[in-house]
Amino acid sequence: MALPVLILNGPNLNMLGLRQPEIYGRETLADIEAACRARAARHGLSIDFRQSNVEGELVSWIQEARGRVSAVIINAAAFTHTSVAILDALLLLDVPVVEVHLSNIHRREQFRHHSYVARAAQGMICGFGSRGYLMALDAVAAMLQDAETATSPMDAH
Ligand code: DQA
Repeated sequence: MALPVLILNGPNLNMLGLRQPEIYGRETLADIEAACRARAARHGLSIDFRQSNVEGELVSWIQEARGRVSAVIINAAAFTHTSVAILDALLLLDVPVVEVHLSNIHRREQFRHHSYVARAAQGMICGFGSRGYLMALDAVAAMLQDAETATSPMDAH
């Protein structure tokens, strides 16, 4: 089995369900984790799903992920717009990084339009609610499949 996919969640995402449901929906982070686990299993992948309100903890988890994960999916929440430290940690990785946001950050306040995370990410999925996490897992599975096809020896004819 491939190395796990690390799914990281930043500050206040532990409050999903209660937090501005008109923007973020009514699902809890536990609901999202369960949906991610099921989707990953369909792709033959496992996940390591974490949340922290502490920037340094997220940085440490990203550092520890080196060589231990097959990809990272990250919703850095408010740190998206402020954290050079999280960007620098992500730049240490040599696996695909996919950025996710529940809301469409480009339709919201100006200060949410800029993402530091984006500079380290293969791509960003935003505006599709919790479905974005599942779309990110589908993208990761496809990228890992492509990488495997590219490295496996060609069939002899
Ligand atoms: C968010 C968008 C951020 O701007 C915000 O600070 C969050 C959640 C999202 O998932 O839509 O906490 O990352």
